[in-house]
Order: sequence, then structure tokens, then C-alpha cells
Amino acid sequence: MSNSVIVGAQWGDEGKGKVIDIFAAKADYIVRYQGGNNAGHTVVIGKDSFILHLIPSGILHKNKICVIGNGVVIDPRALLEEIAMLEERGIKVDSRLFISEEAHVILPYHKLLDELKEQKKKKIGTTKKGIGPCYSDKVARSGIRVIDLLEEDTLKDKLRSNLEEKNSVLAKIYGAEGFNLASMYKEYLDYGKKISKYVCNTKRLLNDAIKNKKRILFEGAQGTLLDVDYGTYPFVTSSNSTAGGASIGTGVGPNKINKVIGVVKAYTTRVGEGPFPTEFNDSLMEKIRQKGKEFGATTGRPRRCGWFDGVVVNHAVMVNGLDELVVTKLDVLDELDTLKICTGYKFGGKIYNDFPASIKTLTQCRPMYEELPGWRKDTTGITSYAKLPTNAKRYLKRIQELVKTKIVLISVGSERNQTFSKGD
Ligand code: IMP
Repeated sequence: MSNSVIVGAQWGDEGKGKVIDIFAAKADYIVRYQGGNNAGHTVVIGKDSFILHLIPSGILHKNKICVIGNGVVIDPRALLEEIAMLEERGIKVDSRLFISEEAHVILPYHKLLDELKEQKKKKIGTTKKGIGPCYSDKVARSGIRVIDLLEEDTLKDKLRSNLEEKNSVLAKIYGAEGFNLASMYKEYLDYGKKISKYVCNTKRLLNDAIKNKKRILFEGAQGTLLDVDYGTYPFVTSSNSTAGGASIGTGVGPNKINKVIGVVKAYTTRVGEGPFPTEFNDSLMEKIRQKGKEFGATTGRPRRCGWFDGVVVNHAVMVNGLDELVVTKLDVLDELDTLKICTGYKFGGKIYNDFPASIKTLTQCRPMYEELPGWRKDTTGITSYAKLPTNAKRYLKRIQELVKTKIVLISVGSERNQTFSKGD
């Protein structure tokens, strides 16, 4: 395997955790490049189930090196809790986890501002983990980076000037209580001490690894339609979750990345607000939600569910340069009589095959559907493509044709062994 990126090709929650876990077996380094603990990557190994928010899913494989790149935003409290959870469950993290000194830190005022903004009528439906406010500070050049937690004076200076501004915004705009400098300084200095053993120049680490012919797997979080540039803006996250983010968020040149693999669900889901053209009606929504256990791994919120949307996935194929596709949760559709695939949108007498930029258009457009017969057979025990029911193969073939990208892997359950390659 060369150096590959795995990205979500819909609105996140495509089952990337499981797919990354499978591909991680053939990699030496597994690297997160964007997002933070808004992500929830679930990996099921036998009777054990792990949900990772910040640490790359590769940590579950012995001897793999895991890196949190500069493009990630880190809540140190959440990070330390995740490390403790893994160690308690017998997974050794020390000397296998490396954190970029340039990654930005999520502070309590980021989380509070995220929560307060979400109380507005026009909300985004965020995870309230402070992601957006932290990235805003990064771009506004007032962010605090991991390296700053290791320098007492720098941390104090930055916290002082940030708290002056944040406390004033909290009081004047939201009527909320501000934060105390001394206690925040003490708490974050302490986090710095605790995580310092993991902190290094991860750009150098990764580029040296590539020189030494090690294989790198870049683990995307969220999904293409949540990307701040290519998603359904403003109903997006605040980072570049698409494949290009892998270079920016790690310091590995784009010419060193050889392959981009997209992960899609056999249908579509999204959490939070924003347009969703192929969203199901109420009864089908509930049926698929229950069967697919469609509840957020981070927030527990019920996910909105809908038909497979070819416009969405074609957009993802283009903006990520997808080479291959992995289809997950095919089994969730096992009981349906008829399946629909969206091939385009109609709005104002026009047909859209490209994803429209206007949220207004997207909200009002009508999906154009093709209907295919269901297979009405349990696929969860199937271990090879050849054994899939004919109508399931037909469904996958139609998706492959529509998005002009080769399906390489199919998943029919949460276990590692409920996965098989497509073959042809
Ligand atoms: P934020 O990333 O918490 O700011 O949330 C912005 C939007 O991205 C909201 O619609 C969230 O529901 C969505 N989102 C963030 N992280 C994930 C994820 O890992 N899976 C699915 N949706 C996500």
C-alpha cells in the first residue's frame, strides 16, 4: 500500500472508523489531519467496541504509530480522557502517539461560545465541542497552540489577552459569566505537562517516515459535505475534511499522497441542520434509523436518513479525486422492497447534476430517482461479493456506474470480518 487518504464522501458517519481500522492493518502510520473530538470513529473488534474521537483509529492495532497532525484542534481534557480509556482497556499509547506542536488547542471559552451560538434560532446543529470557535481563533491569529502549553510565559500572555476579549464578548453579547485567568492558566499548564511526552515536530516525523518507505494512512474525519469549502455552507464543520486537508493538516506534500479512498453508506445520513434533498419520509426514516443504529457516536443525536444521493457522491468524487469507493451498511437495506437512487436534482425547470452552491436551491430542489428492486435477504453473514443476492449486486453496480468510481470493499455489519472486496 502507498500513502492513502480515507475520506467520508457524504455528510460524515459513513463508517470510516471500521474502514480505517481495516486499512490500518497495512499501514505503518495512521494520521488525523483535521477536526477534533467532534468526530466519533467506531471500531468493533469481537465483543469490544471502541469509539475514538481524537486519537487515530489505528491505535487499536499493536505497533502502529499514530499521529495527530497540525490541522487538528485538540481539547486536552478530552485527549487525556481518551488516552486513559485506551490504557484502561489494555491499549498502550506511550511511544506510539505523536501530537503536532502546531495543532491548536480548544479552550473552555471555545466550548461556551459554541454552546451560546447554538442557542440562536438560526443554529448549525454543531456538536458543541468548541470546534468552530477554535478554528476561528486560528484563522484570526489569536489561537493557542500545543507548543504554547509548554511555554509558561507564552501561555500566560496569550491567555491574558484572549480572556480580556472573550470575557467581554461573553458579558456584553451573551450576558454570560467569563473565565478566571489564574485557574485556566494552571489547568492548561498542567495539561501541557501531561501531554508533553507526545508532542513533537510531526511534519519531520512523517516526512522522514516517507523517506524510509513507511506507509502512511491519513484518516479523514466528518465528510465531504461538511467541508468548510465544499460542503453545504454554513451547515458544515470548520475544517477541510476533504482529501486536500491531508496535506495542509500534516505538512506532507500533496505529491507524496498516492491514493484517495472514499467511504459511502449504501444510503445517506446527516446530523444537525441543513439541506438534505433525499431525506426519507417519517416511517422509512424511523425504520432505517433503528436498523442502522443511526444515532451520533459523539452526541447521541438521532441521525437524519435518506436515499443514496448520486449528486452528493459525484461531487465528492470530484473534489477529493476519489480513486476508489468503499460501501458500508449495505445490510441496513436488506428488508426494503424497492430502493431509490438519486441521479440528479430538478429546480426551476433546470436539472442539476452538479451539487448547487446555493442553499436556497438545494433546499427547494426535487431529487430525480431511479427505482431498483430490493433483495429481501439477510446479507450480514455474507463473506464474498459472489454470494450477494443478485439485486444487491445490481444496486452496487448502478452506484458504481453512476459515480464512475470503482467499489473495492463492501461492509455488511460492524465486525471486522463482515467485509469483503468486490473483486471485479
Ligand atoms: P461542529 O463540527 O461541531 O462545528 O458541527 C458542525 C456540523 O458538522 C454539524 O452539523 C455536526 O452535526 C456536523 N459534524 C461534526 N462532526 C461530525 C461527525 O463526526 N460526523 C457527522 N457529523 C458531524
